[in-house]
Amino acid sequence: MSARARHLLSAGDLDRTGAVEILDTAERLDHALAGREVKKLPPLRGRTVVNLFYEDSTRTRTSFELAAKRLSADVVNFSAKGSSVSKGESLKDTALTLEAMGADAVVIRHSYSGAAHRLAEWVHGSVINAGDGTHEHPTQALLDAFTMRRRLRGGEGDLAGLRVAIVGDVLHSRVARSNVLLLATLGAQVILVAPPTLLPVGVDAWPAATSFDLDSALPGSDVVMMLRVQRERMSAGYFPSAREYARRYGLDARRMAMLGDDAIVMHPGPMNRGMEIAAEVADDPKRSTIVEQVTNGVSVRMAVLYLLLGGADE
Ligand code: CP
Repeated sequence: MSARARHLLSAGDLDRTGAVEILDTAERLDHALAGREVKKLPPLRGRTVVNLFYEDSTRTRTSFELAAKRLSADVVNFSAKGSSVSKGESLKDTALTLEAMGADAVVIRHSYSGAAHRLAEWVHGSVINAGDGTHEHPTQALLDAFTMRRRLRGGEGDLAGLRVAIVGDVLHSRVARSNVLLLATLGAQVILVAPPTLLPVGVDAWPAATSFDLDSALPGSDVVMMLRVQRERMSAGYFPSAREYARRYGLDARRMAMLGDDAIVMHPGPMNRGMEIAAEVADDPKRSTIVEQVTNGVSVRMAVLYLLLGGADE
C-alpha cells in the first residue's frame, strides 16, 4: 500500500507495487508470528480499531479482530443489532461517536454500496471496507490473491499469467468485483462464468472475459473460484431452480476432474453446499483452499492494519 494511503476502500485503489507490498508484509508478519507461544507483536500498541458491522459476518469480523489483537491494538466490536442504530441513529453519528472515543481505524461492513466511501469523508482515522453491499470487499480479494500466490507462485511476486475462473452469482458479488480488479492489477487472466441473468450490466467494461459455459472454462483454469448464490439479495427468479443451477453451474467431483493437476478450488464462504459447490469438492484435501483462505485472512488483515496505521517495526 502506498505510504500515503489512509484508507482501503476499493481493490481498484491499489497499484501493483501497493498490492505486492501488502502480500509481502502479510508473509513477513506470518513468519514473525510462527513458532511464538504468545501470538502477539507490538506495533499497534496504544491504537484502537473499531469493527463497525451493520451486516452479518463470521470470517471477516473475526479475522479483523484477531489481526488487530495480534498487533497489540485495542479492539471494539460494534454490531448494529443491539445498538442505538435501532433508535434511528445514523451511520455518521454512530461513526463520530466511536471516533470521539479514540478510534484510529474503523473497519466497516454495510449493506449499502458506498457506505465505506461515505464514512471516509466523515472520520479522521483510517477506514477499511469490509464489504459494502454488492460493491466491493477488498481484503477478501487480497487474501484470495495471497492464497493463490502461496499455492501457485511460491509466495512471491505477482500473479502474471495465472488463469482464474470466477463462477456463479457475479451480479450480487462484491468478492467478484474486488477480485477482478486486483487480479487484473497483479497480471492474472480472469474469466467470469455465470448464467446471463447473473452477470451485471456493463460487465464488458471489466478487465475480464465472460462465458456462460462452465465445462469449457475448467480445463484451462489454474484457479476456480466459486461464488455463493446470494439468495437474500435476489428479488426475482434468476434461474429456474436450485437443482437446475447446480446442474449447470455447480462444481461437483465430475467437473473437478476436468481441472489440471495443480489447479485449486476456492470459495470465500459462507458456502451453499450442494448448490454452487458439492461437499466432496469443498472438502477435497488437495485442491480446496477454503480453510486456508480463512487462515490467510488473518495475516492479510494484519498487513493492511499495519501499513495503514504506520506500525513500527516488530
Ligand atoms: N467471506 C466473507 O466475507 O465471509 P463473512 O461474511 O463470514 O465475513
